[in-house]
Amino acid sequence: MANPDRGVLIAGNWKMNHTLGETERFFSELKAKAPQALPAGTAEAFRSGRLRGCLIPPQLALERSLRLARELPFPLEIASQNAHWEKQGAFTGEVSGPMLQELGIRWALVGHSERRQLFGETDETARKRSESLLTQGFVVLFCVGETRAERESGQTHAVLSRQLSGALPERGKGAASFLDGRLVIAYEPVWAIGTGLTATPEQAQEAHQALRGMLDERFGPEAAAKTQLLYGGSVAPSNIDSLLACPDVDGALVGGASLKPESFLALLAAGARRCP
Ligand code: 13P
Repeated sequence: MANPDRGVLIAGNWKMNHTLGETERFFSELKAKAPQALPAGTAEAFRSGRLRGCLIPPQLALERSLRLARELPFPLEIASQNAHWEKQGAFTGEVSGPMLQELGIRWALVGHSERRQLFGETDETARKRSESLLTQGFVVLFCVGETRAERESGQTHAVLSRQLSGALPERGKGAASFLDGRLVIAYEPVWAIGTGLTATPEQAQEAHQALRGMLDERFGPEAAAKTQLLYGGSVAPSNIDSLLACPDVDGALVGGASLKPESFLALLAAGARRCP
């Protein structure tokens, strides 16, 4: 069962997929199919906050998604895939926290491995984004994860520790308060993303336990116990139950399987089954 202090979060990262027309169709099917697809008790799990759902569409679909999400029979957070650390300025191609907040967006993804590998995101820029957005009141889903080469050379924990320490402002800046629900860590091993090679539940649990230990070391047991840790990397309706069964896996960050209403609903249903 889900840890009662943390609950379960199912987040769908659409990456650069779905036009506005496709977004409209997704939401209309999601709304129509939800009553049959979600098990009894889901409404109560959402109402109590033990289950949360989140969708992370491309920037151009944020406003439309926000509006369409309000028509769903269950609550769905809408998050940005990225945001700059400055509130305004000469940063072509970026969006800022205040711009997102004006739309009604309160959640943001930071440090996704595709940003790191393809667009030059570093530990330092991910840290700046995370620190600024947390200070502006956002919920931040901060991504960490090792490459295949790093895992094979035994560096997994060192990489996670380095990336994790970048997720948070220093202790003195009130970081522990962010660990009371507003900072969510997503462990996404790079070798498992979009490859169909999901980490085994044992591998996911081992990495999550290590991450929780790092949070404990730095911020104490209470903050560590409250922080949600999501697993990401080829999560699908067929493997989510065994991943969510791990004691330190508090949800999933899902790419491909979040693109279709049926599979996204199946993932939410799996989350609901963990929250009786
Ligand atoms: P896939 O679920 O498609 O492997 O993507 C995972 C991911 O990167 C989510 O952010």
